[in-house]
Amino acid sequence: MTERVLTGITTTGTPHLGNYVGAIRPAIAASREPGVESFFFLADYHALIKCDEPDRIERSRLEIAATWLAAGLDTQRVTFYRQSDIPETTELTWLLTCVTAKGQMNRAHAYKAATDANAAASEDTDAGITMGLYCYPILMAADILLFNAHRVPVGRDQVQHIEMARDVAQRFNHLYGQGRELFVLPQAEVEEDVATLPGLDGRKMSKSYDNTIPLFEGGARGLKEAIARIVTDSRLPGEPKDPDGAHLVTIHDAFATPEARTAFRAELRAGLGWGEAKQRLVTLVEAHVGPMRERYAQLMAHPEAIEAVLQEGARKARAVATPLIRELRQAVGLRAMVAVSRPEPKKPPRTLNESLPEFKQYREDGRFFFKLTTVGGKVLLQSAGLPDGREAGGWVKRLKTEGAAALAGAPVQRSEGVDAAEVEAALSALVAAQD
Ligand code: TRP
Repeated sequence: MTERVLTGITTTGTPHLGNYVGAIRPAIAASREPGVESFFFLADYHALIKCDEPDRIERSRLEIAATWLAAGLDTQRVTFYRQSDIPETTELTWLLTCVTAKGQMNRAHAYKAATDANAAASEDTDAGITMGLYCYPILMAADILLFNAHRVPVGRDQVQHIEMARDVAQRFNHLYGQGRELFVLPQAEVEEDVATLPGLDGRKMSKSYDNTIPLFEGGARGLKEAIARIVTDSRLPGEPKDPDGAHLVTIHDAFATPEARTAFRAELRAGLGWGEAKQRLVTLVEAHVGPMRERYAQLMAHPEAIEAVLQEGARKARAVATPLIRELRQAVGLRAMVAVSRPEPKKPPRTLNESLPEFKQYREDGRFFFKLTTVGGKVLLQSAGLPDGREAGGWVKRLKTEGAAALAGAPVQRSEGVDAAEVEAALSALVAAQD
């Protein structure tokens, strides 16, 4: 079976060397593995949340698209598209919004950081916060679920968003799937062995620290000037240097073969001067970046060629998205008009809570028990008899708030024929409905 790998690139800013080493290069390498089907897209709807300058949005989309193509993305193999060319994304966002617990969005990191900052400044909690920021994780869930992606490579800061996408997917499957999995449950993938590239001052390379080495901006000269500004210790040429403490060496490692890494370290220990070491680094990086820079310049001079590539990407992406949306519309009841029977008048409307699995607590022979049942009454989990009612209540509370994470150590057993995924789905639906 081919596995779907999907990731989005927010189109604000201009890519630097850290973006190349930490995201672009590994993603392109992964897309060449056999057995994977990759979806890479420009998250330009997400960019609108952070940026209200149309010209910057336009320029950044173009630069980022050109960068990925110049870096060797093979658009025959990979579906490469703009989020905003896929109207199914916004339609799915709404379907998901209707089953997402507001309380869960209150806990999203980006929103919480903004409200915390407001609290610290004694401002109104939600001052300056748009619904775009608040619903950011739902739009992201739609990006992922629309293509039924299995794996989502992201930075550590995005892991919570993938977990939210999983929860929403489980909830949707539970409400509308009728036993079918409408959505694949996505898995976040944080690349452990891809080093975060340090910037000029040794902190993570990031625009917000103003310590970046440009990828293409400023040409060969810009690259050289930035490398000259890498901070080193003050040892003079001839003095032995400690290569393992030097971020110049970390940047060198990101481009060098294993042999060249060892040789560079040995030379530094033997007294290679920092100035000379920087010159070597310039030569090494330029050998990688130079040919890409030329392709980049050509692409930037022909935006209509990039446009054509992205249009073709959108066509491929929509060939997947359109049938799925059609199926989802059916599933939720947005269907073509046909003669239908009148719905059971007695049946109460499904609200978030009435459609949830539930915990029941009871007492038997002086012992306290609880069990987790589906809406239909099937028992998923059964507790052992506990001597203390408060202990039983405590476990129920933990399972409801922490979900499957609380299962380890809990005095419960799965019913026969119930698999772990079903229990996990039921618990995460309960967690999502908290608050
Ligand atoms: N929010 C992601 C970021 O800032 C970008 C993104 C948008 C994304 N939609 C996505 C990443 C879907 C992975 C999957 O990095």
